[in-house]
Amino acid sequence: MKALRRSKIFFASTTLAMFAPALGAVEVGIRIEIQAGEPGHAVSPLLHGIFFEDINYGADGGLYAELVQNRSFEHAEHFYAYGKVTRGDAAGDLSIETEQPLNTKNPHYLRLSVRKAGQGFGVANYGYGGIAVKAGETYFASVHFRADAAFTGDVNVALEDETGRVIADGCFGAPPQGEWGSFSLPLKAAVTALHARLVLTATAAGRVDLDVISLFPEHTFKNRPNGVRADLAQMLADMKPAFLRFPGGCIVEGMDLPNRYRWKDTIGDVAERPQNWNRWQDAIRDQKAPQYYQTYGLGFFEYFQLCEDLGAEPLPILNCGMACQFQSKQLVPLEQLDPFVQDALDLVEFANGDASTPWGAKRAALGHPAPFNLKMLGVGNEQWGEQYFERYPIFYQAIKAKYPGIRIVTGAGPGVDGGDSDRFKLAWGKFKSGTPADLVDEHYYRPPQWFLENATRYDAQDRYGPKIFAGEFAAHDRNRRNSLRAAIAEAAFMTGLVRNSDAVAMSSYAPLFTKAGATQWTPDLIWFDNTRVYGSPSYYVQALFAKNRPDVALPVTVESATSEPAAVAPGGPPAAGQDAKPAAAPTPAPLPLPALFAVAGRDERAGELIVTVVNPFADAREADVALRGVVRLAPDARATVLTSASADDENSFESPRKVAPREEPFKVAGPTFTHVFAANSLTIIRLKVRE
Ligand code: AHR
Repeated sequence: MKALRRSKIFFASTTLAMFAPALGAVEVGIRIEIQAGEPGHAVSPLLHGIFFEDINYGADGGLYAELVQNRSFEHAEHFYAYGKVTRGDAAGDLSIETEQPLNTKNPHYLRLSVRKAGQGFGVANYGYGGIAVKAGETYFASVHFRADAAFTGDVNVALEDETGRVIADGCFGAPPQGEWGSFSLPLKAAVTALHARLVLTATAAGRVDLDVISLFPEHTFKNRPNGVRADLAQMLADMKPAFLRFPGGCIVEGMDLPNRYRWKDTIGDVAERPQNWNRWQDAIRDQKAPQYYQTYGLGFFEYFQLCEDLGAEPLPILNCGMACQFQSKQLVPLEQLDPFVQDALDLVEFANGDASTPWGAKRAALGHPAPFNLKMLGVGNEQWGEQYFERYPIFYQAIKAKYPGIRIVTGAGPGVDGGDSDRFKLAWGKFKSGTPADLVDEHYYRPPQWFLENATRYDAQDRYGPKIFAGEFAAHDRNRRNSLRAAIAEAAFMTGLVRNSDAVAMSSYAPLFTKAGATQWTPDLIWFDNTRVYGSPSYYVQALFAKNRPDVALPVTVESATSEPAAVAPGGPPAAGQDAKPAAAPTPAPLPLPALFAVAGRDERAGELIVTVVNPFADAREADVALRGVVRLAPDARATVLTSASADDENSFESPRKVAPREEPFKVAGPTFTHVFAANSLTIIRLKVRE
């Protein structure tokens, strides 16, 4: 028999065959030893959070609960999502006008020029591929409108199903003559319809102008007005996220500088929030979305409120005077950076200032006199190179001078090895030579094999330098599928984040959401359509890690009797051309892997030990789990296991929980016990200590 081999953390010792069908064999001779009596090190309470970006219709048409698309007629195709309605012998014209608009920020509006009212002349909005309404639910319809002196009728409103059957209706009344006015009323749906439309019709001849046509469900998450979809937000709440990063992502940078995200455009009356085109309109060949816009209805006030509702720390990311470095590469000259720096300072005041400060007063006026207690701020998204390091310190100094308690998130760029490596190296060279940083935002989208090989990535990280924020990551399996294989590779990698959480302070998977049929980027954490939602296997990995984050990480060794060379895992590299990024470098020779990936810690409040074990291989593996320094355990233990029959398995609307965690209670006789870890699995064991 071969001698047991071990290293401080793991020992690498097996053949990587995770993509072969499971043979049913159980590999034995593995020992996981946990120093449960050691003090260990504190795990960052922020470790696992959420990255949010309006990509894949994540905000408008997604999390933001507005059901009308193009409500302010500001899409380049101004009639997009609308159709003309003529009832009976009604006749007239629809036109887009800009003369004396409701406001100058969204200058376009719709004019109904009604020659004959018949049974009603007007317009229908079809939402985002239909408006989904549920029987018995109430929806608030609203409009801004005005009429000329010739118009003596009303504007009616109705929800109709695909066949024209009226589901709910009401009357907005007579529009004011000459001046803009607004009206809102509740519509209670009599039946459920998946593809309803909102119909506004005028009842008399004359001219009627309409703007900001809106339909909002009464029941949003926490019933917030102008709030977010309850089912999607519940998925976020169920993840128990420690923080919420918003609003991105590349959207912060913009394709070019005029397209960049400006937080000040996103607060206050929604009618006054200037719509912007979404940079993901145009990002990816063959997946263009030319009518993808940002209404900013889900704006910075709503984000902060959502953080509060989720119990997550807010992490806003702001533009640092640089547009997307993959696209326009536009730069704000250094001597013109002041307004950008001021935006950052004003944001902290908006979040935390009291009502006597100008921006604190704005927050209070929006209905939140208490501060949002902002503690972190990102300067730039995925920026890199000398141009970033000329700009970033200007922000850092200004923010720290006024708000020394705010922790700054600094970009390191994308890419981690191969052709991209210089970006990370340059950033870390800067930090080592004196550029200050609190948290360094590293991004990596790599094949599953990379995540397995990089579970030790932070083992040698400097504990005294800036902390790591693994701010965007995802394993990109073949065809960029949301497979169990990808999720398990992420789990293996995340054991390294927990083990090194005295150096790694935060992590978040990216992107978060995708709307089926409206996707620009895969894989993603959460899939949805207008009525349904499911989590990918990666979603469950993120949720399980967040819900089982120990307070203290303990030393762990994994020993194995076998010693075989590692083989290359199929599954990568990522499909080329996703975002005009440089091609991935050739796959390097595989590194040896441990027999199992494991990390352990203490949940102080629950008085429990948490043992997290990842088996990314195609064979089940039996291990002896030995808890050193523990005398007595309660006999009832529970394992939460995420696995499925095949590493290729994914979830879907039809089988949303094909790959989902299952609870498996089991008995332990003492502090050393044997456990079988299923093929392609993440297992989280909780053990009650009786001492
Ligand atoms: O997560 C998708 C994109 O990947 C983000 O917008 C960007 O920061 C990264 O390149």
